[in-house]
Amino acid sequence: MNNAIRETLVSRVSANRFVPGQTLDEHTIQELVAQATRAPTAWNLQNWRFVAVQSQDAKTRLRDAAFGQQKIVDAAVAFVICGMLDDAPKLAARLQPSVDAGLLPADVAAAWAEHARAGHMHNSSARRDEAIRSASLAGMALMLAAHGMGLDSCPMSGFDAHQVREALGLADDALPVLIVAVGRATADQGPQKHRRPVAEVLQIL
Ligand SMILES: Cc1cc2nc3c(=O)[nH]c(=O)nc-3n(C[C@H](O)[C@H](O)[C@H](O)COP(=O)(O)O)c2cc1C
Repeated sequence: MNNAIRETLVSRVSANRFVPGQTLDEHTIQELVAQATRAPTAWNLQNWRFVAVQSQDAKTRLRDAAFGQQKIVDAAVAFVICGMLDDAPKLAARLQPSVDAGLLPADVAAAWAEHARAGHMHNSSARRDEAIRSASLAGMALMLAAHGMGLDSCPMSGFDAHQVREALGLADDALPVLIVAVGRATADQGPQKHRRPVAEVLQIL
């Protein structure tokens, strides 16, 4: 087992409070998102969009759409991770760089593109499931990236997706799945909370 990854997994916590007034520079924001996009997606669809909310004005609007949760304003940046609902028709173009690099046979890419298109075209719940899966994996990756860069984070689903869309002017096909607040936790932050025993959650068949 890779100890660095284990250490990160067992020591990451959801920040209770952030020290207000902190900021992240644009390079750091880009690096966090670059690492988050290393998360896998079905067919490598990459059906996500990251909105880095850092201005006071936008953070206040986001907080109001998130049941007034103050940590959104106190965090340096609140990343709204959206799963994109209508991305399947874009898959062929997104796979082309892998085809060009010899990482994916052209016929496999074409089959994936058709599979995604046919599977998603008339199935809104499949599109939504895929959007939630992709954004969730990206959210976890972003939190691990933040941890690796010495930053604290908190995942949040306590928001009204419709209000978030309105507050940030998101496109209709962007489903806000998760907010990941990133910044510096206050000194009174406790350790990671207890988890259920493995024996209770694991079934080996
Ligand atoms: C999907 C999801 C939604 C969450 N929503 C919120 C939230 O809206 N506000 C909040 O303060 N914490 C939120 N949390 C943080 C959880 O309460 C926290 O991860 C859990 O208590 C375990 O704490 P730990 O990560 O520090 O061990 C959320 C976590 C997840 C995974």
